[in-house]
Amino acid sequence: MLYFLVAIAAIAGLLFGYDEGIIGVARPLLVKDYPLSQFVDGFMSAAVPLGALAGAIIAGRLTERFGRRRVLMGAAALFAIGALAAAAIGAIWQLVLARLVLGLAIGVAAVTAPLYIAETAPLSIRGALVSTYQLAITFGIVASYLMGIAITGDGTWRSMFGLGCVPGLLFLLGLIFLPESPRWLMMHRGRTEAAASLRRLRKAGAAIEAELDEIEAAVRSSAKASTHVSDLMTPYVKPALIVGMGLFFLQQLSGINAVIYYAPVIFEHAGFGNAQTQVLATIGIGMVNFLTTILAMLLIDRWGRRPLLVFGFLGTAISLLLIAVAVLVPGLLPEWMVIVCLAAYIASFAISLGPLPFVVMSEIFPLRVRGIGMGMASVSNWGFNFVVVFAFPLLLESIGLAGTFILFAVVCLAGVAFTLVRVPETNGISLEQIEAHLQTSRPLVELSARPRGETV
Ligand code: BGC
Repeated sequence: MLYFLVAIAAIAGLLFGYDEGIIGVARPLLVKDYPLSQFVDGFMSAAVPLGALAGAIIAGRLTERFGRRRVLMGAAALFAIGALAAAAIGAIWQLVLARLVLGLAIGVAAVTAPLYIAETAPLSIRGALVSTYQLAITFGIVASYLMGIAITGDGTWRSMFGLGCVPGLLFLLGLIFLPESPRWLMMHRGRTEAAASLRRLRKAGAAIEAELDEIEAAVRSSAKASTHVSDLMTPYVKPALIVGMGLFFLQQLSGINAVIYYAPVIFEHAGFGNAQTQVLATIGIGMVNFLTTILAMLLIDRWGRRPLLVFGFLGTAISLLLIAVAVLVPGLLPEWMVIVCLAAYIASFAISLGPLPFVVMSEIFPLRVRGIGMGMASVSNWGFNFVVVFAFPLLLESIGLAGTFILFAVVCLAGVAFTLVRVPETNGISLEQIEAHLQTSRPLVELSARPRGETV
């Protein structure tokens, strides 16, 4: 049952990726029917992150009130409705509206699905199970790109958008058979219902009493949890807030979604005129993202967060600068080098900047403000996602691809400095130890340095 639950909840990630990626492959066909100005194009693409921003803001309160499962069912219905609406539009403003609805569903689900998985997973494999969400995002992106070659011909953009309804309905159907989170049930319905849910989630005959006791204790302490955003500004929490929001700011300003949303346009600007080459190169990008995320899942607990982040920021900066040079001085670098650089950029992202902000955000906030802290970090994620996706076509027109990529590269270099100065090494350190360190008011970044005299 547990793995079924993770698979179903991960469909939310798949839809996240699909709705992000599909716009890139649908755009060349869409503009044949609806010519787009740069402004409308930016707004239509950015409607998803904008809707998701609204979703992230309301998700916390909704899940507390209605439960994880029911909120996800609502999101699943919105996924299906949004997909059908996007397929049936008669004017471009309707597409903007449909993508806003899809964004709302994504934003709500992007907070609720990982929470649902985390609350139902046994402690020992929680990290790995939650990570499947990011993997599902990258899988959804690849799936959307594959649609670009599977379905061709004028007007087929409607099928591309409409197909998102299938996983949406599967998501809804799957949720019908799933139990509510035992933690939410414990909080709102009592121990008996929580026990019934947990029994379904664990192996038949497994002893669940100890786990139930633990959940009950955790629920008691979270009853005192804060819902005031102002509490995030208290001196000992602020460093965590800066790291959480800062990492998502850097993740988005590294330009990742300019590439994910506009990959074919980028290849065109980089000199690849052939539409077939553009689509194939775009699929390659999606595959590199997907496969490197698997590698990241294996390395995160071995190499640690800081080395991976520095490696990723440097890798993205160097690749972006090389592409900028190739665009500025045509003929200097062979064409295939541009593709290799873009692949290196994606791989550097996927191995660090992709999953790590999610991992670090779930580790650094003290328990009392973990919910609202993660909420604020998500707002930073979607807010800057919107800014980048909206601004990218305008930037392309004003300063060109090279100028835009240089801008992103500068942010990535700033990311190296931010990591060294602010981001703590949380690998192998318990959440309680991190919280205790915050209370000492020593800089959060010093967490990696074991205090003198302390033994392991
Ligand atoms: C980011 C998304 C991005 C995706 C690409 C995620 O970590 O939050 O904005 O599209 O990675 O794989």
